[in-house]
Amino acid sequence: MSEYLVNIKNERLSFFTPAGEVKALNDVSLHLKEGEVLGIVGESGSGKSVTAYSLMGLTAYPGRLIGGSIEFNGHQIDQMNEAQMRKIRGEEISLIFQDPMTSLNPVYTIGNQICEMILLHTKKTKQEARERAKELLTLVGINEPEKRLKQYPHELSGGMRQRVMIAIALACEPKLLIADEPTTALDVTIQAQILELMMELKQKLGMAIIMITHDLGVVASMCDKIAVMYAGKVVEYGTTDDIFYRPSHEYTKGLLRSIPRLDEKEKTRLVPIEGSPVDMLNPPAGCPFAPRCDSCMKICLKQMPEYTDLSDIHYSACWLLQKEEFLKAQGGDK
Ligand SMILES: Nc1ncnc2c1ncn2[C@@H]1O[C@H](COP(=O)(O)OP(=O)(O)OP(=O)(O)O)[C@@H](O)[C@H]1O
Ligand code: SF4
Ligand SMILES: [Mg+2]
Repeated sequence: MSEYLVNIKNERLSFFTPAGEVKALNDVSLHLKEGEVLGIVGESGSGKSVTAYSLMGLTAYPGRLIGGSIEFNGHQIDQMNEAQMRKIRGEEISLIFQDPMTSLNPVYTIGNQICEMILLHTKKTKQEARERAKELLTLVGINEPEKRLKQYPHELSGGMRQRVMIAIALACEPKLLIADEPTTALDVTIQAQILELMMELKQKLGMAIIMITHDLGVVASMCDKIAVMYAGKVVEYGTTDDIFYRPSHEYTKGLLRSIPRLDEKEKTRLVPIEGSPVDMLNPPAGCPFAPRCDSCMKICLKQMPEYTDLSDIHYSACWLLQKEEFLKAQGGDK
């Protein structure tokens, strides 16, 4: 059995649209051990959600995995069918979406929705499921659980709905919780409370978390490891300290430069780096960051850099780290 709970290697995934092939993931590799928190950061369209959903076997039509391997908890996810995936989803991996209103069903009570999840994945009776639902609501900090079970989503505040979503996600004690921008629809104080709750639950239940976010403050304070994505590729991966104190990809450095005061307590959002994101219908042959990179060299435009290992954990795909290789490839011409 692999030492990793999640091990994605060289994943390629495209959407075959009428306009052409959108190469959403171009060689994504990342891993995560049991109980760890991984942050995935990167600008809009870089492939964060598509990576996370593919791990759950939830690639939307017309998307298709076209290469690489996805391992989770001993399962070869890329080779499983929908019936097998349905069992893993909810029981071993759960997902919390950005906006709970789109994932909670407005016509069913909170109790119905939590119990449904429990009944689907366990052998509990209806009565036992209701008891478990009350325990779960208490676990996520919702008081008067008996009363809340009878309420409908619209009767709860945004923060409360997000807590219910977390309760549903935890119903079967998954090994991995994926949170896709779980707090952006909430105001700042509630955001902080939800993140604190997630960390508390992680301590109590020991599950691993993948946290997808635009907020570098969140990744700095919560994550053990960080994957920086750009144009469908993990351009740098490392511990939180590696990424914040020893960034080695020019895009990561740009991200860090774009937040003026990391040491301040206030939340800082990523400010876009100058230039436009890559057109994923026609991704460039070389480094996708080249048109926006101040250090771009000729080789960067022609050829995608391989990963350079900077430690056992830390790796990055930038030609600046491969001076010998590019000098060879260029015959000494930078
Ligand atoms: N159903 C789809 N059809 C066609 N292209 C898609 C589809 N879903 C995603 N894509 C494309 O895949 C790429 C990655 O999208 P993804 O949703 O993973 O980005 P993201 O990093 O999560 O961005 P955001 O921060 O905006 O949520 C984008 O270029 C997007 O246009
Ligand atoms: S490979 Fe070249 S273009 Fe890409 S980040 Fe490194 S220096 Fe910049
Ligand atoms: Mg997304």
